Amino acid sequence: MDVALRRMRPEDISQVIEIEHEAFSPGWVGTQFRRELSSRRCRFLVAYLTDEDDAPESYVPAEAGSPGDSSMWGRMVRGVRSVFGGSGGEGGDRLAGYVGIWFQGDQAHITEIAVRESLRGRGIGELLLIGTVRAAYEQGLEEVTLEARVSNFIAQRLYDKYGFNEVGIRKNYYADNREDAVIMTTDRIHTGAYREKFSGLQERFFERYGEVSIEI
Ligand SMILES: CC(C)(COP(=O)(O)OP(=O)(O)OC[C@H]1O[C@@H](n2cnc3c(N)ncnc32)[C@H](O)[C@@H]1OP(=O)(O)O)[C@@H](O)C(=O)NCCC(=O)NCCS
Repeated sequence: MDVALRRMRPEDISQVIEIEHEAFSPGWVGTQFRRELSSRRCRFLVAYLTDEDDAPESYVPAEAGSPGDSSMWGRMVRGVRSVFGGSGGEGGDRLAGYVGIWFQGDQAHITEIAVRESLRGRGIGELLLIGTVRAAYEQGLEEVTLEARVSNFIAQRLYDKYGFNEVGIRKNYYADNREDAVIMTTDRIHTGAYREKFSGLQERFFERYGEVSIEI
């Protein structure tokens, strides 16, 4: 897999906001990344592309890739940008997705998790979830929990795969359309049964996608 996981840095914020805008509805109250990045009670992880064959920005004419640029170079730049997303120009890693985690009591609470639309279905959401569960172990927490829209079956399938159970409903939780949220929480992660499940899932993940660097 040509993706790796690491902690988010301040220079990632603009790309993370792009991914957040793409993934969530306009009514979504965005995260205050700059403030929360410095909090010891939060952790943000980003998945980034490791084999990006994007041309270095310094070799890309500023107008290349603009809608009116029909040159081969312009079409290529547009193609690369549409695959990797982002407006470019700031250097650094090209991000594929992110997860925000709050450490609350004995729980790790996932506040947001999202993958660039063009890169979904390739294991990146799963990688972000593996990083989250590992962070919960590292913090000595007992459970991982989150809310998901009742209609968000794709996300629910991912959480279900990692042993999250439906434990309740928050009525009218989402401000934009007053949709209910389903609360999903893992079993206690320090039990032998969960450890075994998580370790089996990780093994299958690495078999399927290859080795991935995970720094939480
Ligand atoms: C939810 C989300 C993060 C999943 O990321 P992803 O990288 O596409 O998911 P992965 O490729 O890692 O898939 C992991 C698992 O998710 C589920 N899944 C992913 N895509 C799916 C699809 N199209 N249909 C059904 N299940 C799907 C499957 O269980 C899959 O495991 P499998 O490959 O063994 O079947 C991504 O769809 C996303 O960013 N959605 C928009 C934001 C969002 O809804 N966030 C969740 C808020 S609660």
